[in-house]
Amino acid sequence: MFHPVVKISLLLYFTALLVSARNFADDPRNAVQGLHLESYNEEQVQGCYNYNKTLGICFDIQRHSFELLKTTGEQIFVNHDLGPDSFLYQVLDLTFLGIGSSIVYVPKDIPKVREELLAFLALKKAGPSSEQQKNEDFESMKAHYQEAMSELHYTPEMQLLELLPEALMDNSTQLEILKPFYTLCLSLLSRADVQTPAQLKATLRLHDHQRQKRCTNMKTVSWHRRNECRGMCGPTCTCWSLICGDCCYHQGCYEHDRCCDVKGFWDTYCLLPFMYSFSCSSYGAYPKCLY
Ligand SMILES: *[C@@H]1O[C@H](CO)[C@@H](O)[C@H](O)[C@H]1NC(C)=O
Ligand SMILES: *[C@@H]1O[C@H](CO)[C@@H](O)[C@H](O)[C@H]1NC(C)=O
Repeated sequence: MFHPVVKISLLLYFTALLVSARNFADDPRNAVQGLHLESYNEEQVQGCYNYNKTLGICFDIQRHSFELLKTTGEQIFVNHDLGPDSFLYQVLDLTFLGIGSSIVYVPKDIPKVREELLAFLALKKAGPSSEQQKNEDFESMKAHYQEAMSELHYTPEMQLLELLPEALMDNSTQLEILKPFYTLCLSLLSRADVQTPAQLKATLRLHDHQRQKRCTNMKTVSWHRRNECRGMCGPTCTCWSLICGDCCYHQGCYEHDRCCDVKGFWDTYCLLPFMYSFSCSSYGAYPKCLY
């Protein structure tokens, strides 16, 4: 009926269809419910977390880079090194560059390709032309940062930033590279002022209760002794128990709090703890943030 060549190409066509149908089903982006990992090791943790058929989030966590994506592949948050002392920080369609311990906004008319970004970076590294320019750059960065946070506020995937760390923690193999990522998730939630709906809230795990008995929960210590909760993980006296597993004193959180005291909110040592080897026992930007 068919010419042999046609037969073969039809066969190839259907094989290709079958393969792509299999890939579609295997693709974690299309799977239903729960955590789907493509890699899970100290170099990289990659996968997706699906809450239901319409709400899911994908992630690619590496030592010096983080990416949060919609299940369609659209980027929500991207952060990676661009060379010594400089990095890219992108929230949806707003791009920032980190230079040393400050960040600058990258105007929309600058193409978001590596060479262009590096050229812009070199320009900014040379320093502002005047004090007025410096102030303008700072104000522009603040305004765009707030804009980025309000865009995030209305991004539905953000509501999964409690369940995702919780799901990742639910593994007997705990990885160090995940700590900064948990910090990232909670920082973004807090700065974008996202109130996670009740059904999407993380629940405190059982072993947290056991640990709480062996250390002093800072939430229970009287106010004047808490030193405004320095050392408890989370902004001021908010406890982010997901990060170190409880509301106790952690050296890493203390060191980060000190950096914020000295440098202020807009300094990257305070703003982006996940960039500087944060762990519960130490913070990579400390003590250099003190000087
Ligand atoms: C998925 O969950 C979200 C959040 O609870 C909800 O708004 C949405 O309607 C759900 N979608 C489906 C298909 O159930
Ligand atoms: C736990 O980690 C292993 C890799 O060490 C991975 O294969 C497994 O899927 C993970 N389990 C869960 C529930 O995340």
